Amino acid sequence: MLVSAKEMLNKARDGKYAVGQFNINNLEWTKSILTVAEELKSPVILGVSEGAGKYMTGFKTIVGMVNGMLEEMKITVPVALHLDHGTFEGAQKCLRAGFSSIMFDGSHYPIAENIEKTKILVNACDVFGVSIEAEVGSIGGEEDGVVGMGECADPKECKSIADLGVTMLAAGIGNIHGKYPANWPGLSFETLEAVKKEVGDMPLVLHGGTGIPADMIKKAISLGVAKINVNTECQLSFAEATRKYIEEGKDQQGKGFDPRKLLAPGAEAIKATVKEKMELFGSVGKA
Ligand code: 13P
Repeated sequence: MLVSAKEMLNKARDGKYAVGQFNINNLEWTKSILTVAEELKSPVILGVSEGAGKYMTGFKTIVGMVNGMLEEMKITVPVALHLDHGTFEGAQKCLRAGFSSIMFDGSHYPIAENIEKTKILVNACDVFGVSIEAEVGSIGGEEDGVVGMGECADPKECKSIADLGVTMLAAGIGNIHGKYPANWPGLSFETLEAVKKEVGDMPLVLHGGTGIPADMIKKAISLGVAKINVNTECQLSFAEATRKYIEEGKDQQGKGFDPRKLLAPGAEAIKATVKEKMELFGSVGKA
């Protein structure tokens, strides 16, 4: 059964580790992530962007697929199904479809509007027993066509949003979605410390988990980060393994590639990436 992310994140914050959010795009990715989480006895969050939701024909399809897998694969670790960077409307759709966690990304609105919309969704999530992530200070890079500038959040604004009763807060600390440029100055721990001071016990979320050096990840966790999002790294490992498989030309019988065999190396590559991240984040054995 899907669970809200609240308990797993509070435990992670107290235990000084982070739960990984791994974004899903299809059945193979989902199966790989759940397989590793169960093997390593780690809690896990499956992230779904609105773009990935459309690709998979809609949020209800995803809820059906994930719930089916939890049962058929006999998954015992806590799993949350979470909307990633949701719009106000998208968040409401996910609540109705059966997601167990949502993110409302109001970081591009003026703070008063971000507060107003987040508040409405906090109330709705309370009714559904669903966890909610809010964002202050947009994350850099491009995601689903939306380009953020990698801001550092205003700690006072973070407090205003945290006080609405959200479950977790994503505060921009110079992090970027996708690969980090060579001249990236690194995470702003100064901002992270200032945010933590304002929001107290609130579990913090670090987006853009691909390519952040291990020492920075560990320091961020020590300063209150309890959830780390990873997407690009899975995409890269999946694409590279698939490309290699096609180039090697294996399994190409007269009728072409067997789709199940074609996608298998990519699915294995995702497993390796997820395992590496769970070990780095310290969530292994914490289910
Ligand atoms: P990356 O694509 O950089 O791993 O970031 C993922 C993310 O933050 C999703 O919200």
